[in-house]
Amino acid sequence: MAPYKIVMVRHGESEWNQKNLFCGWYDAKLSDKGKQEACNAGKALKDAGYKFDLAYTSMLTRAQDTLQAILKVLGQANIPVEKTWRLNERHYGALTGLNKTETAEKYGEEQVTIWRRSFDVPPPPMETDHPHYKAIVCDPRYKKGPPPDQFPMFESLKLTIDRTLPFWNDTIVPQIKAGKRILIAAHGNSLRGIVKHLDQMDNEKIMGLNLPTGIPFVYCLNEMLKPTPGGSLQFLGDAETVKKAMEAVANQGKAK
Ligand code: 3PG
Repeated sequence: MAPYKIVMVRHGESEWNQKNLFCGWYDAKLSDKGKQEACNAGKALKDAGYKFDLAYTSMLTRAQDTLQAILKVLGQANIPVEKTWRLNERHYGALTGLNKTETAEKYGEEQVTIWRRSFDVPPPPMETDHPHYKAIVCDPRYKKGPPPDQFPMFESLKLTIDRTLPFWNDTIVPQIKAGKRILIAAHGNSLRGIVKHLDQMDNEKIMGLNLPTGIPFVYCLNEMLKPTPGGSLQFLGDAETVKKAMEAVANQGKAK
């Protein structure tokens, strides 16, 4: 029996996922399908007998609403929840709001795959005249961080990991070691960063990882907080459904 377990889930489908738009720090809401995915995630966790002592999520509504839907199904809507920008989705910079398929037609599928899945190649920066610049930068929820001089205008996965890992190491790890049962509801790329760290994935292998929306996954960790054999990315869903959902995420970046 692994000494530690932690459950993570990417938010349910957002309205911008549904429109196949690069979302990042734009505060898209859950689509109706995404709300259903969140409830289904709660049911899967309830059926598997999971209960939590505390939860972590991002500053973005799609992750927060996914978490609340799950906790409501579990009858645990009142457990402590910490929200942090450090779990936000990767900032997609100037790509924010662009259609992924149209972007692949304009710049090529290979370039879009590099922007979406590479380790250290960032998207082009969001400029001050970007249609969503003010809504993101002036959002009062960011008053407590990131510091103005560190507010991202674009992020590669590496830059995302650089701001997510301190929270993982300084806040989440001590709670795991204290034996707390933890749920993290976050985003495709902030979670890819945690998975890369836990599995010590190399920069090539992480390019192939696409996390589906709304399907929880479990990590079983040993005393050193390393995944036990077979303890990585244990999805609470049948393998075929998970495989198809991952492929659908990958295909979002294809040209027509
Ligand atoms: C977004 O921010 O657009 C999505 O939530 C994640 O997008 P990706 O799967 O293209 O990285």
